[in-house]
Amino acid sequence: MGCGSPGDETGGTRGSIQPPHWDAGLRLALAQDDSPDPHIFETTIVAAASQVEILPGLLSEVYTYGGTLPGPEIRVTRGDRVIIHLVNQLPEATTIHFHGVRVPNAVDGVPGLTQPEVLPGETYTYDFVVPDAGTFWYHPHVRSAAQVGFGLYGAFVVTDPDEPADLGDELTLLLSDISLDDQGVLLDPDMGPQLTAAFGHEGNIVLVNGKINPTLDVRSGRRQHWRVINAARSRYFQLTAQGHQFMRFAGDGGRTERPIVSPSLVIIPAERAEVVFTPHADPSSHLPVIGIPYDRGFGSLVRDDVPIMDMVMSDQSPYLDAALPALDRNIEPPDLSSAVEVPLELTQTILEDGTIEMGVNGVPHTAATPLTATLGETQIWAISTNMDFAHPFHLHGYFFQVLSVDGVAPPTREWKDTVDVHVGGETKIAVHFDERPGMWMFHCHILDHADLGMMNMVHVSDPNDPLSGSGGAEHQH
Ligand code: C2O
Ligand code: CU
Repeated sequence: MGCGSPGDETGGTRGSIQPPHWDAGLRLALAQDDSPDPHIFETTIVAAASQVEILPGLLSEVYTYGGTLPGPEIRVTRGDRVIIHLVNQLPEATTIHFHGVRVPNAVDGVPGLTQPEVLPGETYTYDFVVPDAGTFWYHPHVRSAAQVGFGLYGAFVVTDPDEPADLGDELTLLLSDISLDDQGVLLDPDMGPQLTAAFGHEGNIVLVNGKINPTLDVRSGRRQHWRVINAARSRYFQLTAQGHQFMRFAGDGGRTERPIVSPSLVIIPAERAEVVFTPHADPSSHLPVIGIPYDRGFGSLVRDDVPIMDMVMSDQSPYLDAALPALDRNIEPPDLSSAVEVPLELTQTILEDGTIEMGVNGVPHTAATPLTATLGETQIWAISTNMDFAHPFHLHGYFFQVLSVDGVAPPTREWKDTVDVHVGGETKIAVHFDERPGMWMFHCHILDHADLGMMNMVHVSDPNDPLSGSGGAEHQH
């Protein structure tokens, strides 16, 4: 099934136990499917500066996909062919990168590498098949910190036809932030001293699906299935709800090997998590979801809690939910028998004129030599930093498995594309470059860091095809 018409898939509105319009306070717009073929999803997304209401009663001119902030949720089924026409009506060049989706290299959205920049007034078409179910997102790869900070992001959900039926009423929660003055005018994306960029610019207004602390009308006892996406340019989120637990059963690359239950949910920039959350509270009471500070390095804990959303219990008696279906998935460990280990240090260098340059192994992106890999090869990347801040490390094109974070194996096996690298620690990942040769980016997803140079590429070459993965736009002609 290519995707239904807007409104029939999200919101759990079909025979829902939730109060009517329970998610109306934060429901995302859905991208419309213009293709009659059930296995093809085709849509047009216009990127433009538009007016949206973020602060109550004020219109803010921000950047939008499809006129809404966030952009429309793209919702497709695993195996579908997806055709997206990007129309650029922005005053500057842009592209779309489908974060986490294992696309062919030519569709990866990196300007000057996999495609030309899409100039103002131009249209560019992305056409690919989605191989994996899971929660992904899309965003530009030009001046990323500024353009994402201005509002260019959207959810990209790939459903699995074999998914067990009732994990709960589904909700996509796209977390972000934006910098506005009290008149609702966007602030300079590079504002502040360079130290601000070293920390990463965080917007002064936290948003859930573009709304400030939205309300969700829920029935106590009825479980919800959240797809949480962190689309902020540098903010980490750590969610809590007093007396409640999150059952995290899927991450960047779909289901994990087994669910993990915990009282808080950390979602680093660009990361995704799927959780089952069941509110238990008295009828008509409020259950706030709060963002608490997460220690990502110097200064990050001296901050206040942020309201994320306010769950209001209906006046119905608590619902007694059916048992949750099993959520296990078998994930084979990587074969490391011939894996080489590649040390990657995420670095900051103070130049002679006092400015900060960031890079990988001391070299900024503009001067870097790409790493190399041969198709079929598995590598272990051992990632650390010389900075006083943690880094959400992201690799394009491939999922990886985390072997250890600061020497400790993760609590469950899973496929990821974004992982945290802690201050003074080391994160080890295993990447199997199994298919789709090409030039693939990797970078810090604190987008200020990426823009300051903390980014490089890996050239995955196919020994049987000497032209493979030359990566440059010329290879496509
Ligand atoms: Cu969200 Cu280069 O990535
Ligand atoms: Cu970083």
